[in-house]
Amino acid sequence: MESKKIVIGNLKMNFLAQEITAYLKKLEKMDCGKRVILCPSTIYLPYFVGKNFELGIQNISAFESGAYTGEVSAQQAKSIRVHYCLVGHSERRIHFQETDEMIREKIRQALKEKLKVVLCVGETETEKDELKTYKVLKKQIRTALRSFSGKELSDVIIAYEPVWAIGTGKVPSNTEISYTIGFIKAIVKELFDVEVAVLYGGSITEKNIAQLNKIENVDGFLVGSTSLNADKFKKIIEVVVTQ
Ligand code: PGA
Repeated sequence: MESKKIVIGNLKMNFLAQEITAYLKKLEKMDCGKRVILCPSTIYLPYFVGKNFELGIQNISAFESGAYTGEVSAQQAKSIRVHYCLVGHSERRIHFQETDEMIREKIRQALKEKLKVVLCVGETETEKDELKTYKVLKKQIRTALRSFSGKELSDVIIAYEPVWAIGTGKVPSNTEISYTIGFIKAIVKELFDVEVAVLYGGSITEKNIAQLNKIENVDGFLVGSTSLNADKFKKIIEVVVTQ
């Protein structure tokens, strides 16, 4: 059966304008189709429009439009052909104090515009050590997704990203990831009666992707720092999408 897994590259706050052409040139010849999504800095989104991959935005406003200095609305993102948005990334929760309630409002705006939402969830190292992973994930998911219809939730994907695995080189075992993804799918089914796709993210490299890709219930991957290197990112795409 053909794999339908997706790969998202989260470029975070990296690159200068003059570095982007070379980066895009390297990705240009890939047969990415709709299953590779790149999320550059918002200011660079126009450079990435109309290429051989889908476009995502790293963050979206919880407001619809108007006097919200520095914000970018879902409507605006949609108007330049952005189809995905990351919501609730742990860096936004940690550095910008985003709460599950704020995240829900962002999701509301995104879904109104029919953007595909990638809701990031994950436990910290302390929470893991205190055996609170499942409790934390359940709360993050329940609060963020409460009040949406089953139809709306069909545009939501969940990315399981343990905070302790992001940018650290530490990766849970395949068994641990698979178990947690199974838990997330079961929780979403129990709470909202919908099936959800679940990605894994955290210290994915061109070296460990073949191993991670063996996880049976994973629906794709969210890649941070390795996506900054076009050659390495291409290898990940090859393993997951084009092979
Ligand atoms: P990383 O980041 O791949 O650099 O660990 C993942 C992420 O933040 O989505």
